[in-house]
Amino acid sequence: MRRIVVTGGAGFIGANFVHHLVQHTDAEVTVLDKLTYAASREALAGLPESRVRLVVGDVAEADDVEPLVAASDAVVHFAAESHNDNSLDDPSPFVRTNLVGTFTLLEAVRRHGVRYHHVSTDEVYGDLPLGDPARFTEESPYLPSSPYSASKAGSDHLVRAWVRSFGVAATLSNCSNNYGPWQHVEKFIPRQITNVLDGGRPRLYGAGLNVRDWIHASDHSSAVLRILTEGRLGETYLIGADGERNNLEVVRMILALLGRPEDDFDHVTDRAGHDLRYAIDSTKLRKELSWSPAYGDFEAGLAATIDWYRDHEAWWRPAKATTEAAYARRGQ
Ligand code: NAD
Ligand code: TYD
Repeated sequence: MRRIVVTGGAGFIGANFVHHLVQHTDAEVTVLDKLTYAASREALAGLPESRVRLVVGDVAEADDVEPLVAASDAVVHFAAESHNDNSLDDPSPFVRTNLVGTFTLLEAVRRHGVRYHHVSTDEVYGDLPLGDPARFTEESPYLPSSPYSASKAGSDHLVRAWVRSFGVAATLSNCSNNYGPWQHVEKFIPRQITNVLDGGRPRLYGAGLNVRDWIHASDHSSAVLRILTEGRLGETYLIGADGERNNLEVVRMILALLGRPEDDFDHVTDRAGHDLRYAIDSTKLRKELSWSPAYGDFEAGLAATIDWYRDHEAWWRPAKATTEAAYARRGQ
């Protein structure tokens, strides 16, 4: 797999994965990215031009996809509309990019016999009760709650069908919530960090008791590369780092790391249909492919992420005001 197309490679996790490929393989990488509001060219700056090129295009446009897939050995598909709150405001780009985009890529890899890895989310399984030891496994039933998770669930189903019906050489991964550098300020952790850096207060939806299972984006990248190179074709692998925390705990940790009182936050309007808890059992990935996360300590990873946002204000500043204006319209 010398020539790899990474869709969404100018986004948060996709860019992290491109850096990971450059560091850990000899691959030549073509990033296919539409450069939506969520993308950032800076996240790819400094990578060797001989190894990485950016093609601006749409995964849902066959004319953009076809020549790149034809000239590649593998496609790793990160591109997506990725934010639940946006999908509640307007689901249409989620259906187009996440469903039609995946369909368009699958048809291209089918035509050209190219290896395909599909990056998905644990949110396709719906939510788990609070205070219950159950975790998602590869056998959990699909039960998505939001337009975002439903569009990702549909994209997973397309991949599984293309494997079974057409013999496409694909693997899938469903990962828990990511944090780390280059994450857009609309998402929970960067929003709270930058609110505090801005002199404002974190904003907790509802009581803040919803649980997310946090993993550093670089651990997500190492898992995807392991599955791409060693995973069994047709299989799904869940990716997680045993990082369960409720939102209130995370906000208090951010406040403590930034030297602010632990109750210096606001409760705001809850998200409609807000999933209670996500938790990943990643036994299959760990046992079968001998993968383990490098970031075992969430608090240390969070502290490093806070430092990163402090040092990269010029990057997040332009998006902050428009993002907060959208939240203000929703009462959040
Ligand atoms: P992101 O929103 O930060 O980045 C998405 C990227 O896709 C952007 O660069 C954007 O320009 C690009 N894109 C959007 N529509 C496109 C289109 N039609 N054609 C080409 N490019 C397009 O997203 P992210 O958080 O990096 O997530 C990447 C992938 O990982 C997604 O598939 C997401 O579902 C999955 N995932 C994310 C998380 C998480 O916590 N963020 C967890 C598990 C899985
Ligand atoms: P988010 O980063 O949107 O990820 P996801 O919806 O994919 O889990 O949100 C993570 C959690 O944080 C989720 O329970 C919603 C909550 N949340 C807040 O409490 N306040 C906020 O300002 C945001 C953006 C999210």
